[in-house]
Amino acid sequence: MLSARTSATRLDLAALAALDAADPLAPLRGAFHLPDDVVYLDGNSLGALPKRAEQIASRVLRQEWGDGLVRSWNDAGWHRLPWRLGAKIARLVGAGEDEVIVTDSTSANLYKVLQAALSLRPGRRSIVSERENFPTDLYIAEGAARVRGERHRLRLVDSPAHIEGAIDEDCAVLLLTHVNYRDGNMLDMAALTERAHRKGALVAWDLSHSAGAVPVELVACEADFAVGCCYKYLNGGPVAPAFVFAARRLQERSEQPLSGWWGHATPFDFSPTFRAADGIARFLCGTPPVLSMAVAEAGIDLVLEATIPRLRAKSIQLTELFIELLAQECAGLGLEPVGPRDPQRRGSQVSVRHPGGYAIMRALIDRGVIGDYREPGILRFGFAPLYSRYIDAWNAVAVLKDVLQTRAWEQPHYRERHAVT
Ligand SMILES: Cc1ncc(COP(=O)(O)O)c(C=O)c1O
Repeated sequence: MLSARTSATRLDLAALAALDAADPLAPLRGAFHLPDDVVYLDGNSLGALPKRAEQIASRVLRQEWGDGLVRSWNDAGWHRLPWRLGAKIARLVGAGEDEVIVTDSTSANLYKVLQAALSLRPGRRSIVSERENFPTDLYIAEGAARVRGERHRLRLVDSPAHIEGAIDEDCAVLLLTHVNYRDGNMLDMAALTERAHRKGALVAWDLSHSAGAVPVELVACEADFAVGCCYKYLNGGPVAPAFVFAARRLQERSEQPLSGWWGHATPFDFSPTFRAADGIARFLCGTPPVLSMAVAEAGIDLVLEATIPRLRAKSIQLTELFIELLAQECAGLGLEPVGPRDPQRRGSQVSVRHPGGYAIMRALIDRGVIGDYREPGILRFGFAPLYSRYIDAWNAVAVLKDVLQTRAWEQPHYRERHAVT
């Protein structure tokens, strides 16, 4: 259970407001549309709307689609969007500009990189991952193993401490999510990649909870493949396509099975036979979703403007303060801390468990504090340092304390499950 905070200095609203006043990133909050009556702590699920995204959407619809019509593929640079966005994301994840491309969903991209990795390690038959990995990663890995035939399989370990021991001579690819979606635990990318390589395995990283939030150095860590979504900390919107990274040294040998025409070397030759494009472009599949991509660029640009070191520093301060506030205000109210206490091992979220977790989150959302809920009993609070404020931490904890003390969450309607939690 959460124990009471012992520090002599009591945190109060004035102290947190002073931190906001001194925050160099504070002006960037103005670049987002955020309702005044909401404390938004769910940027780890869906990032907020950048105001510029609305202008871009209107321009793409009216001028580029409306007036430009099909000419806009060339005249408005639509056909270059997967590369342009990929090059920008590359700067956020420590990759070369020719190593990242934006396309499809995280799930689809994962399928491509797993199949590419399995083909690169023909004698080996296992994909190794964590049971606590995000379910789509496990489902996709199961599917990738299934289509390869009976002797291929997905092997799962029960805790991060067991990952290294599971990498054996049969492991073709280690599939890991860098920051865990449920408890925010951040794995050591450099060390685990090195261990896998030493055993002859490749590594695919899911960066969905990392990109735009924590430092990632794919090239320095010698990562092989990576995927990630653009709708969380990159603020790309609910329609944003995902990104895929393949190390330059592997690209020409990487064969991915979703060989659509955009991944062809010369798509507009309309040849009846497939020949993979050079480089990262071979991970493309079908026609890019232009409107979604154009809109996503606004959020990515804001992350680039803020810079990862500044975002990470603020994120650590926000999550540390939130944890301290929980200890100060909510000790004895039935919350159990979940995830690493060491900020260096934590992503940009804080999770706590309570048997009434789902109903408590519904009660919080009813009062304007938006986090989310994950089984079993976990309340997630995501801090997006581009727009989260220090006073948001205070206000969220004050409302949580009230909901717990008054037992407001016990009202029966808060137990009714919504389709999306
Ligand atoms: C780690 C991780 N991977 C993948 C996804 C989702 O993948 P997709 O965009 O294909 O739905 C999520 C969604 O929250 C996630 O947390």
